[in-house]
Amino acid sequence: MGGGPGGAGGGVNSSSILWAAIMSAFAAFGGILFGYDTGTIGGIIAMDDWLKTFGSYDSSIGYYLPTNNSSLVVSILSAGTFFGALLSYPMGDMKLEIVSACVIFSLGVGLQLDTKWATFIVGRVIAGFGVGLVSCLVPMYQSECAPKNIRGLIVGLYQLTITIGALLAAIVLNATKDRQDHSSWRIPIAVQFAWAAVLGGGMMLLPESPRYLLLKGRVQEARVSMGRLLTQPADSPEVIDECNEVSEALQIERAHGSGSYLDCFRNNEDRNGFRTWTGIMLQGWQQLTGINFIFYYGTTFFKASGIKNPFIITIIADVVNTATTIGGIQLIDRVGRRRLLLIGAVGMCICEFIVAIVGVTAGNIQADGAVNLAAQRVLIAFVCVYIAFFAISWGPVAWVVTGEIFPLSVRAKSMSLAVASNWLWNFGIGYATPYLVNKSTTGINGVKTANLGVKVFFIWGATCVGCFFFTYFFVPETRGLSLEQIDTLYRESSIVKSVSYNRKIRAENIHVGHVEDVAEV
Ligand code: GLC
Repeated sequence: MGGGPGGAGGGVNSSSILWAAIMSAFAAFGGILFGYDTGTIGGIIAMDDWLKTFGSYDSSIGYYLPTNNSSLVVSILSAGTFFGALLSYPMGDMKLEIVSACVIFSLGVGLQLDTKWATFIVGRVIAGFGVGLVSCLVPMYQSECAPKNIRGLIVGLYQLTITIGALLAAIVLNATKDRQDHSSWRIPIAVQFAWAAVLGGGMMLLPESPRYLLLKGRVQEARVSMGRLLTQPADSPEVIDECNEVSEALQIERAHGSGSYLDCFRNNEDRNGFRTWTGIMLQGWQQLTGINFIFYYGTTFFKASGIKNPFIITIIADVVNTATTIGGIQLIDRVGRRRLLLIGAVGMCICEFIVAIVGVTAGNIQADGAVNLAAQRVLIAFVCVYIAFFAISWGPVAWVVTGEIFPLSVRAKSMSLAVASNWLWNFGIGYATPYLVNKSTTGINGVKTANLGVKVFFIWGATCVGCFFFTYFFVPETRGLSLEQIDTLYRESSIVKSVSYNRKIRAENIHVGHVEDVAEV
């Protein structure tokens, strides 16, 4: 992900941009797979027939999902994705690996159509494993094949397709929620076969990454593949130049040597350890903003707040997420990574405290703890503003920065560690949330819970304060810099002063004519 040597670049014409866009659209189905799969479970566990099939019964509340089972079914997918991301280090033919991930994912989806709890859970782990592989491999494939001028945008597009996947999940769930049989939840689950088929089938038609072919010494095939990407004949000077550029970059990479996992944490001249930990923690803080509380438990949360059609509110939340992500990815290069992360942390923090205060105050007035109509509106509005702040900042920016900050010699390994960290936190938060939020249930399998309800937003608000300080002390401004310049920045500047150092590097570049954009950071 991000910029750097190794991709098709340079001779970019409008048809090659079109082709890169088509290619990305296919590959972006990986994002849809990711977003749809994580977005679908929240609605499924709120469905009547699913609860009848997998839940427990209590005469006072009817069918319900005990807290321990709710934790397990939501979070277990992220346990699978964690291992998928860790093992996704590209071993060879990336296209084949993505197609295999789709097959694994489909197997997991198939198992989730069963009505046995154990099979459903195993299905979620296996599907998660496939999503974890895809969540690392697809952006790597994209960054190797896309012309470098639009590579940043393409990484942002990946986050956009994640949000589109979640939105599609909310729409399908809303369409089937009133069915009173297994089809209510089986249809939303089975739709995922289609995403896997489009991604897997599409990958078979897409060209192999020229970088991979050159790495294997298959020069002629690399030229054919590059020719397809640049929509030029394989023997045109443009294609040959591009292949030479990639080969040179590969030689530089070889000279750097390929570091081990231990090297990722060594504090050498390139500050590998500092940079790897920054990526790992950035992904952790992104999860600690609490965003997946909305996407995993939002429907249940809105229902508990007394909101009449929680499925519609979830669709609205997803529309806000998708629409503001479109704006957000355009801001990354204009406003800068650091500034967006800081603004996002402050904005989310304020909204989350408002949601918590309004929810607690209004919930105390109603006898059943649900909030009154006016308070419901305020609550929904601020949840949406909070999502918008996430979508213009921590959503896409965390992925973009993670793709940029690692030194070349350990880039793929540090990347897979950081993505695995995202999924580990995702798992931890998904697992812990029902224990934090739910009322203790006295029925079958009742477990002790902290019964925080809407007060959980105080926790997410507080963690956003942590996000702010983490950014301030650990995340450098990398906008407009090449990977080599980012290395220089890490060597010569402190993080806190990186904005002015970044400006200086780009101003010097302007002088020698490399970078055109020097708008103030
Ligand atoms: C980011 C997060 C992911 C979350 C999504 C919501 O991609 O990594 O966990 O579900 O944003 O838009």
